[in-house]
Amino acid sequence: MQEIAFAALVHGVYVVTTRLEDVVNGMTASWVSQVSLKPLLVMVSIAPSRYSHRLIQESGIFAVNVLDSTQADLGKRFGYKSGRQVDKFAGLAWTTATTGAPILRQAYAYLDLKLKDTCAAGDHTLFVGEVVDAEILHPLAQPLVFKKSDFF
Ligand SMILES: Cc1cc2nc3c(=O)[nH]c(=O)nc-3n(C[C@H](O)[C@H](O)[C@H](O)COP(=O)(O)O)c2cc1C
Repeated sequence: MQEIAFAALVHGVYVVTTRLEDVVNGMTASWVSQVSLKPLLVMVSIAPSRYSHRLIQESGIFAVNVLDSTQADLGKRFGYKSGRQVDKFAGLAWTTATTGAPILRQAYAYLDLKLKDTCAAGDHTLFVGEVVDAEILHPLAQPLVFKKSDFF
């Protein structure tokens, strides 16, 4: 059944970033969705084992960086190693969003969020954030759609 869910549900590929004091981190996530219009709420589903899980819980802020269709490698960079061990931002150009979360300059777009709610969901936690800022950085690009063959 899991294989069918993977094959049948369409997701993008995002780098979810956060900052706790002087620590910045980001992780790849594909389980991201808008869940409300007014207020504008977006959720990200994150496993408790991720370093980002603790950082978002404690900081109360995060940003969703939307990768473009040529950036699967960036998804691998942020998706295969933990920020506990490596600085995933090394050599990348990034700026700081209104909340303080890092924004990848080369991303297609970003949403900057303040954490509103968390909800346990099986082996993941849903982090629901209110969008406080958003921008399409590269309007001529196309968002990356998750394909298993790009990553596994
Ligand atoms: C394409 C792709 C999608 C991913 N989607 C998710 C996701 O939605 N939720 C999640 O918890 N982990 C997801 N991961 C795994 C995390 O990105 C990975 O465990 C990462 O190393 C965690 O980094 P951190 O420990 O620095 O937070 C995904 C990985 C890849 C490659």
